Amino acid sequence: MHIKRQLAAGIVLLNIALFSYVYYNAQEQKGYAPVNAQTSNEKDRGYAKTENEYSQTFSSKRPGIQPSKMKNTDDLHNLTANTRKEGIEIHNIDVQQKTRVGPAEFWRPELNLSSLPPGLYKRGKPVFDSLPKTYLPGYKSACWKLKGELKCWPYFYLLGMPKCGTTDLWSKITMHPDVKYTVKEPHWWARVRLGLTLAGLRPSKKAFLVTGNLAGYASRSNEMVQQFKLHPSMKSRLIIGDGSASTFWDNSLWDTWDGKRYEGPEYVTADVINVAQPDAKLIVILRNPVDRVYSDYLYFNPIHIVSVDHFHTMVVEVIDRFNTCLQTMSFRGCTYSIKQIDNQPLHTRLLVGLYAVYVRDWFRVYPRDQLKIMRLEDWHINCTGLLPEVFDFLNLEKKSGKTIAQFCEKKLQNGNKVGLHAIGDMLPKTRKLLEDFYESPNKELSLLLGDDKYLWRT
Ligand SMILES: *[C@@H]1O[C@H](CO)[C@@H](O)[C@H](O)[C@H]1NC(C)=O
Ligand SMILES: *[C@@H]1O[C@H](CO)[C@@H](O)[C@H](O)[C@H]1NC(C)=O
Ligand SMILES: *[C@@H]1O[C@H](CO)[C@@H](O)[C@H](O)[C@H]1NC(C)=O
Repeated sequence: MHIKRQLAAGIVLLNIALFSYVYYNAQEQKGYAPVNAQTSNEKDRGYAKTENEYSQTFSSKRPGIQPSKMKNTDDLHNLTANTRKEGIEIHNIDVQQKTRVGPAEFWRPELNLSSLPPGLYKRGKPVFDSLPKTYLPGYKSACWKLKGELKCWPYFYLLGMPKCGTTDLWSKITMHPDVKYTVKEPHWWARVRLGLTLAGLRPSKKAFLVTGNLAGYASRSNEMVQQFKLHPSMKSRLIIGDGSASTFWDNSLWDTWDGKRYEGPEYVTADVINVAQPDAKLIVILRNPVDRVYSDYLYFNPIHIVSVDHFHTMVVEVIDRFNTCLQTMSFRGCTYSIKQIDNQPLHTRLLVGLYAVYVRDWFRVYPRDQLKIMRLEDWHINCTGLLPEVFDFLNLEKKSGKTIAQFCEKKLQNGNKVGLHAIGDMLPKTRKLLEDFYESPNKELSLLLGDDKYLWRT
């Protein structure tokens, strides 16, 4: 009787979650804000009543950055002069390249909330306050009792980036029998946790009520926990992941926490996750940022709007606004100001491709060897070489060459929308402009990662 009732409640919840997921994902696929989300006012934010602390997080108006008077879109050389400057100081943060040393297997440092800087504590208080001092021993994942129920964090995060093959990589990782399948993109840490929708749009009551609280997010581990009950030996084997492609870069509410700070955000999502999971495994797949932004543009904008000329105009506008921003803010600050600089509600998310800025912020808090960074270009031609490395990185049982080949044979997931191939490549002048724009940040990235392939010169 009891079990039946739980089952029924579970199904209802699942349906709500599924509806919400499909609905908001549809909005993300469309790439523009639903009308009601754009015009929603303070009263519409029901979560604020239960999460008072977050109510001051949103200002009702986000001042955008106005483009300059420069309208001659052929004066392309001067447009990227700012990012092409040699030795441009993109960042001013120390990078942690160290390896973490821990004693036994599944060892985790103890949580000590009183040692957290107040500014950081504020960013994740409801989460931090629900955490135990130590996680339970014997589990591969970080597991603990939350209100009496066993929950586990994802063992790994596939952090990004959008349009860089995360869906395909995710589908191959989750073919490993010890990785329990879960919905790929809860977009919890960077968005839903803060009351934003999955697509990062204006605060949404629905999105928050379904998955906004920690218990909602942590229940992603429920199926795995069921397995632990049936087969206790699985505790040291099974894991889940989180493949939200926003986690790496999206900190779009930072200025509501910190004000318009020259240096950019004081803390980013990396800092928050690091408090909860200092030993998380982090995977990032990158791609030539020039191709990434075009793919992103084609994917997220309505099909009747996209064209090579339109793309060119949009790129020029974004670079122009970025330059305007650089007059009053650092390169890092402007990169994190994507919400103000992008051409919303249409997308030309150039700043997502300034990888070095984000990589440096994650390296600042996580030891170098907890991040596995790879390129889509290599993944495309070498799944059979790279997938075993990923499994190794996740401490998963080795698979035979034959099994790996079978995993890799499965068709590429989530390519571009059908029909867009007809539009063809971007204009040569747009490509040149973007190559100039990304040249210096790519150089920075290749230095950070110690590998010239991140110059994307070939
Ligand atoms: C472009 O940059 C050069 C060198 O900084 C400058 O002399 C020139 O006036 C600029 N052109 C325009 C149209 O701003
Ligand atoms: C926790 O951090 C505070 C402040 O840094 C420190 O004084 C305290 O000794 C720490 N507690 C433990 C148990 O390490
Ligand atoms: C594929 O990846 C493996 C593992 O990193 C590497 O040893 C091999 O050289 C790669 N092959 C190609 C063709 O890049």
